[in-house]
Amino acid sequence: MDRVKTGISGLDEMLNGGIPQGRHIALYGGPGSGKTSFCFEYLYRGAKMGENGLYITLEETKDDILDNMKNTFPLISDVDQMISSNKMEIVKPEKLELDEVANLLEDRITSNNVRRAVIDSATMIRLSFENDMEYRQTLFEFLSLLRNLDVTTITTVEATSPKKEDIRFDIEHFVMDGIFNLYNLDREDRRIRALEIFKMRGTDHSRDLTPFKVTPQGIKVYVGEKVF
Ligand SMILES: Nc1ncnc2c1ncn2[C@@H]1O[C@H](COP(=O)(O)OP(=O)(O)OP(=O)(O)O)[C@@H](O)[C@H]1O
Ligand SMILES: [Mg+2]
Repeated sequence: MDRVKTGISGLDEMLNGGIPQGRHIALYGGPGSGKTSFCFEYLYRGAKMGENGLYITLEETKDDILDNMKNTFPLISDVDQMISSNKMEIVKPEKLELDEVANLLEDRITSNNVRRAVIDSATMIRLSFENDMEYRQTLFEFLSLLRNLDVTTITTVEATSPKKEDIRFDIEHFVMDGIFNLYNLDREDRRIRALEIFKMRGTDHSRDLTPFKVTPQGIKVYVGEKVF
């Protein structure tokens, strides 16, 4: 099986080498849990390995994302080069619709050989649906379309609770190939970031809740360490 190395320190080890190519991941996390940083680094590491990436932002503007990410990762110095050479593109579609997202993806895969993509966030799209059945159906159709494209995607989903015990199984849990959870766990006088690979179809993977940090040079996942 071909795998897409995320390039995020420690994560590929947890995935036994990377995300199976062409699969579609949902990245769950609460506010500030690191979803955008995680997705941005996934594309950045890909760009460095010669795989073009597309960041589809449905909420923040391109400039906000770039500003925030450059401040989050000040030691990653060549973000602007990656953007100006189109190895990484950040695009905000005009409409909040999966059709529009699909068109954008198809276009960039054809015209810029995009191999990895990020959709941030599915929650924004879900809000535009009146009922869950309709959203589930549309998401399912969207994924069927994605499966015909040679692209490996991460879609963020907003989690409503920081607690591990409070996971509610949601629509995205069932339709996506993989689920990664980011937590901002509550400890006495601080919060600890932790990551969990909850599901990944077609491969064995770590099931350990593993601490991670957002550092100026990128995300570091501390494989083998425990969360206290
Ligand atoms: N250089 C840094 N070093 C350590 N932590 C940082 C750094 N820069 C940002 N952070 C942390 O990362 C968090 C932001 O992460 P990010 O924007 O990726 O989260 P998110 O899950 O996308 O949030 P939202 O739900 O608001 O979209 C900040 O709240 C801050 O705590
Ligand atoms: Mg975000």
